[in-house]
Parts: sequence; structure tokens; C-alpha cells
Amino acid sequence: MSQPIIEFKNVQKRFGDTTIFDDFSFKVEENEIVSIIGPSGSGKSTLLRILMTLEGIDGGYINVAGESLWHMLWNDRYVPASNKHLHKMREQLGMVFQHFNLFPHMTVKRNITEAPMRVKGLSRQDAEESAEALLELVGLADKAESYPNDLSGGQKQRVGIARALAMRPAILLLDEITSALDPELVDEVLDVIRNLAKEQSFTMLLVTHEMYFAREISDRVCFFDKGKIVEEGVPEDIFSAPREERTQAFLNAYLGQ
Ligand SMILES: Nc1ncnc2c1ncn2[C@@H]1O[C@H](COP(=O)(O)OP(=O)(O)OP(=O)(O)O)[C@@H](O)[C@H]1O
Ligand SMILES: [Mg+2]
Repeated sequence: MSQPIIEFKNVQKRFGDTTIFDDFSFKVEENEIVSIIGPSGSGKSTLLRILMTLEGIDGGYINVAGESLWHMLWNDRYVPASNKHLHKMREQLGMVFQHFNLFPHMTVKRNITEAPMRVKGLSRQDAEESAEALLELVGLADKAESYPNDLSGGQKQRVGIARALAMRPAILLLDEITSALDPELVDEVLDVIRNLAKEQSFTMLLVTHEMYFAREISDRVCFFDKGKIVEEGVPEDIFSAPREERTQAFLNAYLGQ
């Protein structure tokens, strides 16, 4: 079997006196689509933010694509990663956030070309061609010259997805990308992710409250509570026949069953 593309080994994470992860281990295989569901405050966003190197860890190891994320080998010993190593590792990951985080003073196209030009050194022409193709992919080819404030929430979020993809990440992290949207805009955003999952081979790790979407798109669903995976499995098992009481209670509250 091939090596997992993401692996957490005995990871610890604390904020002050509060322990978020204590001896947390978790794997994602290449091209696997994994959804994380679970109550507020259980550590779902923290998990993605650690992968994105926006948060450090207090113990354990994380491997991404066969390399240690937070450590590097130095004379046959693991030492804390340098900034250069973190930059290199970060390029494998793209993240879309709940709140769009677009640059309001830049056009849609510029929002997408900025990082590939600055970080990856793409020429303006190459970056713009790629941005145009990505805008086509998310159904916004006609909005390239618009500014974020002139877009609907759903359109902003589709730009957010295009911007993450512009860095050609091997892994896409999605943190509740529809929860700030009006209900009628949710599906246009989820459709983009559906198509991506269908047409391209991608590893995706998503945190979502859209249970029907998690059920439809995921290879595996993990129910997360208090920094632990309480239960995981194929969507049919988790949603139709959860074994753990905590999973049942969460799903009942959520789905109103
Ligand atoms: N920067 C921080 N400093 C201190 N505590 C934090 C920080 N970030 C998160 N926390 C705490 O860590 C815990 C886990 O937070 P996290 O955002 O990962 O939860 P979550 O599962 O994503 O919740 P939600 O569903 O509400 O988004 C929470 O108790 C939160 O208050
Ligand atoms: Mg969160």
C-alpha cells in the first residue's frame, strides 16, 4: 500500500492550559476525500490550520507527501522546520476558509494571480492564463475584472476556490466553506467541489456542516469530538448506522431525526 499523503502521529496541541489534541493520530490516503464532522470547538479548524502551517504543534509528527511538515532532517536528526522548509511544504496545500479572505482592492483575476506570481514566480501571462481557466472552471469567466465587493457570497467563495487551486496544491483543505452563505447560494459552491472531485484526482479534507454533501462526496467521514476521532467509516455507515452514542446524538440533533 502506498504511503498516506497526510499522516498525524501522536500529535499534541495546546492553547495555553487547554489541550486540543493529545496523542492524536490520523491518516489520509492520496486522492481520498475525507469529511470531518463534529460539534463546535472540537478542534476541526485547528486540524486544518495546523496542516496549513498557520498553527504549530506541541508534540508528535505530521507528514505531508512523505515529508515531515514541522520538522526537517539535519545531520540525520529531526530539528524544527526552517521557514524555507515550511514554505516548500505549504505549497502542497490549498485552503478555502469560511470567510472569503479575498483582497478587496484587487480584481478577481488579480486575487488569483497574486500568489502564483509572488510565491511561485509565474510570469503574469502564465498566471493570467491559469486564472482565466480556473474562473471558467468555477463558472465565473465573466467576473475576472470585477472587485470582490461586487460579487455575491457564493461567487466570492468560488473565487476563493479558484485562488486556492491556482497554486496547484496536491491537497485541498476546505473549512466550512458554505456556512457564511445564504442557503440559496450553498449549492453553487458545492457544485464546484462536486465537479472537482469528479473530474480531477484530488486529496480533499473538508470540515462541513452540510451532512448531505458529506454523505454524497466523501470516501470516508470522521466524527470528531473533543480533539478525538470518535468514529469513522464510509458515509453509509456513519450516517445510517452510527455505532457510537456520541455520533448518534450529534446526528440526531443535526438532522432532527
Ligand atoms: N488561537 C487560539 N487561541 C486559543 N484558543 C483557541 C485558538 N484557536 C482555537 N482555540 C480553541 O480551541 C478549540 C478548538 O477550536 P476549533 O476552532 O478548532 O474548533 P472547531 O471544531 O473548528 O469549531 P467550530 O465548529 O465552531 O468551527 C476551541 O475551544 C477554541 O476556543
Ligand atoms: Mg471551525
